[in-house]
Amino acid sequence: MKKIIKRVLFILLALVALYGIGRFIDVAYGSWQFVKRQPYLVAQTQTSMAIKWQTPKSEVGKVLYGLTPDTLSHTLNEEETSKKHSLTLDKLNKCTQYYYKVISTSLNIDNNGRHFRTLCEEKPTQRLWVIGDSGKLGADQREVYAQLYKYIQNDFKELDMWLLLGDNAYSSGTQKQFNKTLFKPFIELVKRYTPWAVAGNHDARRWAFYDIFDFPTNAEAGGTTSGHEEFYSVEDANLHLVVLDSETVSRADDGDMAEWLRKDLHANKKPWVIVAFHTPPYSDGGHKSDSSWDSRGRLKDMRETFVPIFDAYGVDLVLSGHSHGYERSKLIIKHLGKSDTFSAQNIVQDKKTDYTKSLMQKKNSGTIYQVCGSSAKLDGATYSHPALPYSLKEMGSLIIELTPTTLTSKFLNINGKIADEFKITKNLGKNDER
Ligand SMILES: [Fe+2]
Repeated sequence: MKKIIKRVLFILLALVALYGIGRFIDVAYGSWQFVKRQPYLVAQTQTSMAIKWQTPKSEVGKVLYGLTPDTLSHTLNEEETSKKHSLTLDKLNKCTQYYYKVISTSLNIDNNGRHFRTLCEEKPTQRLWVIGDSGKLGADQREVYAQLYKYIQNDFKELDMWLLLGDNAYSSGTQKQFNKTLFKPFIELVKRYTPWAVAGNHDARRWAFYDIFDFPTNAEAGGTTSGHEEFYSVEDANLHLVVLDSETVSRADDGDMAEWLRKDLHANKKPWVIVAFHTPPYSDGGHKSDSSWDSRGRLKDMRETFVPIFDAYGVDLVLSGHSHGYERSKLIIKHLGKSDTFSAQNIVQDKKTDYTKSLMQKKNSGTIYQVCGSSAKLDGATYSHPALPYSLKEMGSLIIELTPTTLTSKFLNINGKIADEFKITKNLGKNDER
């Protein structure tokens, strides 16, 4: 009898070890496997932009750039040969449009329409395109993108920023999957915008994620130095955008991310604060924030640790994905428990749209929570969380428009209809000073 138990235990241990080894090989291989890749933009700042690409043969990378498509009068060459290229154009003018071309001898590069703008200090209007859980290739992903293109009247100059709410490359974020589900279908966007990509649970090949993207660790794009690529801020004109990692770093109240967020929000001077991360604090879609076990407690953690910080600094808008649907709150505060504890006390302004706030960042002035994880797939769910009364089982994306005193967020569904919309207007209050 003892012998049989020993043998069973040995087989079980061997299976666990084999699984572990297999997973490690998959992570390492999926992360480091070399793939060809067309040039794309990363690390946008007020005075610089980096361009990365991967060629089948080792060569010296070269970028031509300038202020008009016909005068690419500046040339930047790499110093050494490589298959993996990264060139940073620096000493650029802020808030300026540049055109560029990438030269390669071994990769046939699509140089049509390559341009970008550096980050601005001021700009009267801004438009962001936000997609969540978009990494599933297919007709739905294409159609959601087609509706954006229609919305901006086929003119990319009408778009300022592109934000991705995680699960950017199903099923596990390997180099190959990123090519297939992000770089190829969104080639026209990656030519022109830094993809501010939030890490999702399916972007699980971490070495690939941080190999592909370069995020600011030293406040290069504005905000406060985080020292971590996982959480950082980006400032463009009226917007202070904060990106958090709800997946892998500590979500504890005294963790590095929470400590940094307090400092970053405390120092902010921009009129609009949007915080983005993958796993939502509230959801009754494919994932349930009422469950302490769903997603290993990450929904609960993001709510219990971070909602008090959003309340303390009056964060305007929190964006997440993970549940594949659309869900949206009113302007709310202090809701840290399960959905049955949500009450009128949590609602700052009880209306569907046209909220008002002070231009000063004020404690308990309320936050709107939006979940948009249906940019390529849809969950069957009830969507009945009382804090999220404006919820739709529909695919789509968000169009966010900003001026110095207004923020409008629209859920543009897959049929081209604005299925939900709200506006926040900010004014100086009687006792406010700027
Ligand atoms: Fe997810």
